[in-house]
Amino acid sequence: MAHINDHYLKLAAGYLFPEIGRRVNAFAAANPDADVIRLGIGDVVKGIPRPIVEAMKEAMEEMAHDESFQGYPPDQGQDFLREAIAEHDFASRGVKVDVDEIFVSDGAKCDSGNIQEIFADDCVVALTDPVYPVYCDSNVMAGRTGPADSDGSYDGLVYMPCTAENNFVPAIPDQHVDIIYLCSPNNPTGTVMTRDDMAAWIAYAKKEQAVILFDAAYEGYINDDAIPHSIYEVEGGREVAIEFRSYSKNAGFTGIRCGYTVVPRELVGRSGAGEEVDLHRLWARRHATKFNGVAYPVQRGAAAVYSPAGKQAIAETIGFYMENAAIMREKLAAAGIAVHGGEHAPYLWLATPAGHDSWGFFDHLLQTAHVVGTPGAGFGAAGEGYFRLSAFNHRDKIDEAMERIGKL
Ligand code: MLT
Repeated sequence: MAHINDHYLKLAAGYLFPEIGRRVNAFAAANPDADVIRLGIGDVVKGIPRPIVEAMKEAMEEMAHDESFQGYPPDQGQDFLREAIAEHDFASRGVKVDVDEIFVSDGAKCDSGNIQEIFADDCVVALTDPVYPVYCDSNVMAGRTGPADSDGSYDGLVYMPCTAENNFVPAIPDQHVDIIYLCSPNNPTGTVMTRDDMAAWIAYAKKEQAVILFDAAYEGYINDDAIPHSIYEVEGGREVAIEFRSYSKNAGFTGIRCGYTVVPRELVGRSGAGEEVDLHRLWARRHATKFNGVAYPVQRGAAAVYSPAGKQAIAETIGFYMENAAIMREKLAAAGIAVHGGEHAPYLWLATPAGHDSWGFFDHLLQTAHVVGTPGAGFGAAGEGYFRLSAFNHRDKIDEAMERIGKL
């Protein structure tokens, strides 16, 4: 019998969102008349903007003709897309990212889960708590942790609690770490890091020769010019950070799948023999071996995100979700619930009402209001006593959900 990867057995339960889906489906099966409103998983609801769909359709048509057919895509991505990314996501904000430093992929979830493969098993990993579960679970699977304790925290990880008491700003560890996961705008708390916060992390990473894995999947939701969209906007960021981006939440690609990762050329790690090794080389090797590129029509669609019509459509989509978030913030506050986030992110992070822990409030909200959210404790021990609502839904559903919560 094949010996399995025993580290998988340390994983406490199913992955958070399928687990919630399972509970909601069970409730819906038992209560077929309940009109369940889903504000749990951060999945978008609005159609992909027309200019992007048209670009994908044209590219699909090209695939029908021998002269314009494309087989395997280049594994790091098509130049037309990488050039658009370098220009519109970075150069336009005064940041230099070379086309060659961009790896187009099937999304930030996969890349932020896979990136740990290029680091040694004994690397010390620091995570915010609460945290997007992928960063944690992928390191558990790789064997960088011991078992979980009773609150679900894994031995060997360095947790950085983010709560209302510290304004959801993680404290810099008072010990050495090798890998630091940061996410801004943050999933799940919906809060953002300032330029000074990022500068402090860059200084710490330089001192410890650590690598920051910076997830900027929600940068499109930032609506204050003073807040950086990329860690590379801050001095020294290129020397210490890998950055992940996604077209899921701006262009509606949660089902289409496309994102990218930037690995700057100056970023280095150390081999077991003590030599400096360029991380770009390792990620390029990993990508070429395990990934066969993103479909050509999808990359054409992603490139259309940067066309004038694409930009306008995306601004409207994000504006719509952010109006949802503003409505939710106002209604929840009026219902006496303390609300964080939702100003530069599509997520609202609530303090659970007195008498409810996170999963208790999940059940209460589902049973009494037929509204689905995500229990804060599902994102880590410090998420206990909090609850996440997503602003990704149609306006009538948002209004109805807020009315039901207001009546609780
Ligand atoms: C979430 O709800 O946190 C998102 O769906 C995460 C993701 O994009 O994987």
